[in-house]
Amino acid sequence: MNNILITGGNGQIGSELYTVLSERYGIGNIVSLDIQPPRMFGSRREVEHYEIVDVTDYKALRNTIKKYQIDTVFHLASLLSATGELKPDLAWNVNMNGLKNVLDLARDYQLQVFWPSSIAAFGPHSPQINTPQFTVLDPNTMYGVTKVAGELLCNYYFEKYNVDVRSLRYPGLISYKTPPGGGTTDYAVEIFYEAIKHKKYNCFVSAETRLPMMYMPDAIKATLDIMHAPAEQIKIRTSYNLAAISFSAEELANEIKKHIPEFECTYEPDFHQAIADSWPKSIDDSRAREDWGWSHEYDLAAMTADMLEKLA
Ligand code: SER
Repeated sequence: MNNILITGGNGQIGSELYTVLSERYGIGNIVSLDIQPPRMFGSRREVEHYEIVDVTDYKALRNTIKKYQIDTVFHLASLLSATGELKPDLAWNVNMNGLKNVLDLARDYQLQVFWPSSIAAFGPHSPQINTPQFTVLDPNTMYGVTKVAGELLCNYYFEKYNVDVRSLRYPGLISYKTPPGGGTTDYAVEIFYEAIKHKKYNCFVSAETRLPMMYMPDAIKATLDIMHAPAEQIKIRTSYNLAAISFSAEELANEIKKHIPEFECTYEPDFHQAIADSWPKSIDDSRAREDWGWSHEYDLAAMTADMLEKLA
């Protein structure tokens, strides 16, 4: 890992990964790429090398990789599940053709690649409790379809071209630096902002909706752990199940109430509910723990306390 490219650099994961990687490898060795201009933090632009590129544009992507002599790509540019349902054609184009471009370039320029899959790869016929690593994958969202197809494509490029591509099925990710956009698990982030600002939140899934979740520091740790692991420890080249915590929307609201007693959460499920209902409630990630030593740090109480402290 010498010269690193992060696609989707402005996003929820990309912006946090950028900070951690620039501390570890030097800001001059990290390139952030996004279709949007760089995000401002106060009046500060945090990035040194920044490229405005559409990941579906193969030539522009190749030029960036050549310009900075990139050897490692964290390919995070993607549409999420809720936006994917509103714009299925765009979701297919960005999620699939973007990944194909990155994998083709990885084959031709010997790049190591990280690509995120998701709990959205599972569907209504996957077991919902302790969902196993190898099971039915029948997602009914366009986002989920692109995740399953993407996992298979990653495995194909590994088997056929020896591309060192590594992947995790992220649960819902909770963070305070950059809000997510267009996901189904976004309520678990919005609820913190609203609890602090307005002491109330109207949640778009029901109180009993339970989903696998993770605090961002754990997600970043998992991402770097899998990328740093010796190649022989990576025995799954589709994507690894990854888990930390599972809670219902109501359990999260109750945990926030311990810090903000006047906080009130109401529930008004909309189209997100059907998406959430098709996903697992908890995940069996024992293969990640066995193969490359994954372990998480934050439980619901520790995450909630830290989120509220950082956001306040
Ligand atoms: N957090 C994502 C979403 O809600 C799932 O990968 O779309």
